[in-house]
Amino acid sequence: MRLYSAGIDSYFRCFIRMKQTQVYDVLIIGSGAAGLTLALSLPDTLRIAVISKETLDAGSTRWAQGGVAGVLDKEDSTEAHVNDTLIAGAGLCNEAAVRFTVEHSAEALQWLIDQGVPFTRENGDQLHMTREGGHSVRRIIHAADATGLAISDTLVKRAKERPNLTLLQDYIAIDLITREKLGMTGQACIGGYFLNNRSGEVEAITAHATVLATGGASKVYLYTSNPDGTSGDGIAMAWRAGCRVANMEFNQFHPTCLYHQQAKSFLITEAVRGEGGHLLLPDGSRFMHHFDSREELAPRDVVARAIDHEMKRLGADCLYLDISHKPADFIRSHFPTIYERCLELGIDMTREPIPVVPAAHYTCGGVVTDNNGRTDIARLYAIGETASTGLHGANRLASNSLLECLVYGRAAAEHIMATTDFSAEVETVPCWDASQVTDSDEDVVISHNWDELRRFMWDYVGIVRTNKRLLRAKHRVELLRQEIQEFYSHHKVTHDLLELRNLVDVADIIIRSALRRKESRGLHYSRDYPDALPRAFDIVLTSKYIKELGEI
Ligand code: FAD
Ligand code: SIN
Repeated sequence: MRLYSAGIDSYFRCFIRMKQTQVYDVLIIGSGAAGLTLALSLPDTLRIAVISKETLDAGSTRWAQGGVAGVLDKEDSTEAHVNDTLIAGAGLCNEAAVRFTVEHSAEALQWLIDQGVPFTRENGDQLHMTREGGHSVRRIIHAADATGLAISDTLVKRAKERPNLTLLQDYIAIDLITREKLGMTGQACIGGYFLNNRSGEVEAITAHATVLATGGASKVYLYTSNPDGTSGDGIAMAWRAGCRVANMEFNQFHPTCLYHQQAKSFLITEAVRGEGGHLLLPDGSRFMHHFDSREELAPRDVVARAIDHEMKRLGADCLYLDISHKPADFIRSHFPTIYERCLELGIDMTREPIPVVPAAHYTCGGVVTDNNGRTDIARLYAIGETASTGLHGANRLASNSLLECLVYGRAAAEHIMATTDFSAEVETVPCWDASQVTDSDEDVVISHNWDELRRFMWDYVGIVRTNKRLLRAKHRVELLRQEIQEFYSHHKVTHDLLELRNLVDVADIIIRSALRRKESRGLHYSRDYPDALPRAFDIVLTSKYIKELGEI
């Protein structure tokens, strides 16, 4: 039976071969810090699916270096952490969300420690705290410079020990299934359609509650610190399903990614600056004092813009980060991963500066949620980098992201337990007919469009924006959207096609949001509107609103 056709509503696609629906109590799309925290915080009496489009450690979590912020030290306080977060967020944070996060930070970090993450300790058993830009005190716990790897390995291990968790790898979510899309009354999420990359089949997976924990969208830019796969899938799926998406113009560029031909996406943690590293021009002179009194420890947007400005002024390919004035033993013990990686590439950071450039790092905006991770659609939650909780405002404070994954993962688990009727029958979802789609004989369309999209986003929607550049990008993205939509309507889905389809939706939302923000604030800097408006406001869009109002 063909219930949905791409011609009528390209939201869903139809397929001939369709395995029987898998039904769970909770469906978690994403196995990073957010998804696994949630999974492990739910009781082991529930049947839970945790899904990753690649391996279980495929997302950004594994790559986190600096650490996790939280109020653990006697010298620190909730007020101080809240205040630092609000300052970095440039007037746009939701203070209630900031307070909620910081107030729950100690218990969330304790939960993580109890899971067995081997955080770095000193003086016997004391947790070592490092410092990063925008933090007024040392409050970041870490596992040397490979915190994400330690967290990911630990949580994946714990998840594998839980028989109630079905861990599905190489399953890529295509779209959410909602009652509205199925023509049923009352809006709620029923689950999703997934391409099983191993079998090539599309499967429906349904549940009482569905959670998007799919990470960010920094892959929309040509240069990024993120791993492949951060294509904003959850944001795009929620957008297509009708959820509000907020503040997508705030794309955080990390100031210091390694600049080397063979080093794709390798970050040099901000903790290097936190431990005394200096940023240098090619002539060896420091320059950050010209931009901000906090110098190297200014928030990320300030430092990234300063580097961008100096690179453009000097026509330099990169600038430098130097910590070689510190003892070699200190550098090797604090930054073993970075030390090894740089050495492999012929750079000895104990003796010489590291070449660095800014790169897209974090998506501050996302799917609008409340403090329980609830979205606009009943039975649908969003947590982690996919969500816009209001914590980050116009610029995320370093190391607040992993904290957000933990706090909201735990809060969503509590809310699911408190409000879900697990005895109710989950709706049956229809089988689709794919009789009108064929295998692609022109995959070059996908690879070409991937490159084009990411390049114009970097060139026109990057660290410094202008109306003219944004309008150019808008024109390009419209053409690409049409082409990709056309391709999607006529060909069988593949992993790359699905990511491209999501990236183009996300790029479109970023550009629309950036065009609407007629000021400079936090991470959004426009040469046409260099000042902040007196009052801060969110840019909140929905696909329905865009359709109804036409062009925005
Ligand atoms: P991720 O960890 O990105 O996981 C996303 C999951 O969703 C993956 O399992 C992926 O396979 C799955 N997925 C995505 N799309 C689909 C789909 N369509 N179908 C099925 N599965 C899907 N933050 C800090 O707080 N401190 C740090 O020190 C820090 N350092 C960082 C260093 C680097 C290099 C990077 C890239 C980020 C860093 N961050 C840091 C940011 C932080 O790591 C991320 O924001 C956080 O890990 C995001 O976690 P998540 O669970 O939301 O998503
Ligand atoms: C870093 O280690 O510099 C990244 C920290 C973060 O993104 O929060």
